Amino acid sequence: MNSDIATVLFNEGTIEKKIRELGHQLSIDYEGKEPVVIGILNGAVVFMTDIIRNIRTSLTIDFLSLSSYGSGTKSSGIVKIRKDIDTNLENRHVIVIEDIVDTGLSLKYLLEYLNKHKPASLKTCILLDKPKAHKVDIHIDYKGFEIGNEFVVGYGLDFDEKYRNLPYIGILKKEIYS
Ligand code: IMP
Ligand code: MG
Repeated sequence: MNSDIATVLFNEGTIEKKIRELGHQLSIDYEGKEPVVIGILNGAVVFMTDIIRNIRTSLTIDFLSLSSYGSGTKSSGIVKIRKDIDTNLENRHVIVIEDIVDTGLSLKYLLEYLNKHKPASLKTCILLDKPKAHKVDIHIDYKGFEIGNEFVVGYGLDFDEKYRNLPYIGILKKEIYS
């Protein structure tokens, strides 16, 4: 696996420090609000389990799975819900945890969907953002890192469902996917 990585962008220590900072901010902002933290499967799983252990207020968790129709390293923008949430979101404070925003189409779809459940508030916590790739206007409330348009894997992010278990985030060698 390691030999498929061209460059390590964020190592374990850098990620851990960023998650402590985000968790600290979320702990302050959600004190006493008992938020529902929704992780988007599968990419956000690693980030989700780390971030919730850094939020020092009572909360509940749930998961949602989207399928984006498209192959390889480009997202098609056509999104469907594969696994729905089980929590009633009405009047709850909702925090969406996502691994990465690329075009922003998945997140936009997701936010419109979750808003229909009438939450008291709806905020986004995103590990990685590719601002130059956005095709729609997306508001990110809590952000880990901004990156360029390179394709990255590790720490939950995959190529063809692999590399999710790498403890760091790195740029995948072009020859692996081209
Ligand atoms: P968007 O709808 O274009 O914003 O795509 C978001 C989804 O595309 C993410 O949830 C990822 O599954 C996938 N994705 C986009 N860029 C990358 C990347 O660099 N590495 C791994 N997955 C990515
Ligand atoms: Mg994904």
